[in-house]
Amino acid sequence: MSDLYAVFGNPIAHSKSPAIHAAFAAATGQDLVYEARLAPLDDFAGALAAFIRQGGKGANVTVPFKEAACRLANSLTERAARAGAVNTLSFAGGEIVGDNTDGAGLVSDITRNLAVSLAGKRVLLLGAGGAARGVIAPILAEGPACLDIANRTAKRAAELAAAFSDLAPLCAGSFADFSGLSYDVVVNATSASLAGAGLPLPAGLFAPDSLAYDMMYGKGETPFLQLARAQGAARCADGLGMLVEQAAEAFFVWRGVRPATGAVLAGLHDQLAA
Ligand code: ATR
Repeated sequence: MSDLYAVFGNPIAHSKSPAIHAAFAAATGQDLVYEARLAPLDDFAGALAAFIRQGGKGANVTVPFKEAACRLANSLTERAARAGAVNTLSFAGGEIVGDNTDGAGLVSDITRNLAVSLAGKRVLLLGAGGAARGVIAPILAEGPACLDIANRTAKRAAELAAAFSDLAPLCAGSFADFSGLSYDVVVNATSASLAGAGLPLPAGLFAPDSLAYDMMYGKGETPFLQLARAQGAARCADGLGMLVEQAAEAFFVWRGVRPATGAVLAGLHDQLAA
């Protein structure tokens, strides 16, 4: 029987993860089945327990269960503990191991797919929620010149910077606090694009040759990327590549095989453009 995996979320019907993992499995010859499972908002733990009883080998976890998955795991990888959230679970010997591949996915997309090195670069992170927290340590590991955090609520940015102060000194503030500064890479980790909202970014934030990266994706350019283009960002990328790369990293965690991602990403780009 094929090994069983699933992604848990609510909602989950439009998840691209089953198609992505099916493509990875076909390309690498791995015998597995990967399903989308809707977990009740008030009983993620019950849904997960049922899946483990059914023989599930591992699971991805998406909105809004990443923090709950972190609490349910018996042990956490270092990157999951740092993120305070889990998007990848492995089940073996009665243990639930929590991992987080989101940050690695972002860094892979930027450095490999987009061929933009983060080493020595000035990087600005927009947002101070769970999505921002998950990518800070992996970005810092690339050796940027600085990683600053701007958020609508300045206090949350300061709290996030303080949580990582053992790794690097991070400047934090409101969007307006970054007026007069410019960055090589600006990553949007706010959920503003989800609501179709723009961000009140000060002019001049995008250095010549800069990359604007929105961790969100959708049909057409996100409000953040439209704004970034208008403010002079040289390159714009949405989070579709991050989605595929975090999946590839999860696949590697489970199967010990790293799938190629180019064809899957190109296919998803075509689907969204259609
Ligand atoms: P997630 O886990 O997706 O990061 P979150 O913890 O709710 O979700 O954080 C959402 C982030 O998007 C926060 O940084 C939030 O800013 P606040 O801390 O000020 O709430 C940001 N955000 C959401 N909607 C926004 C908007 N319309 N404009 C600016 N920032 C927004």
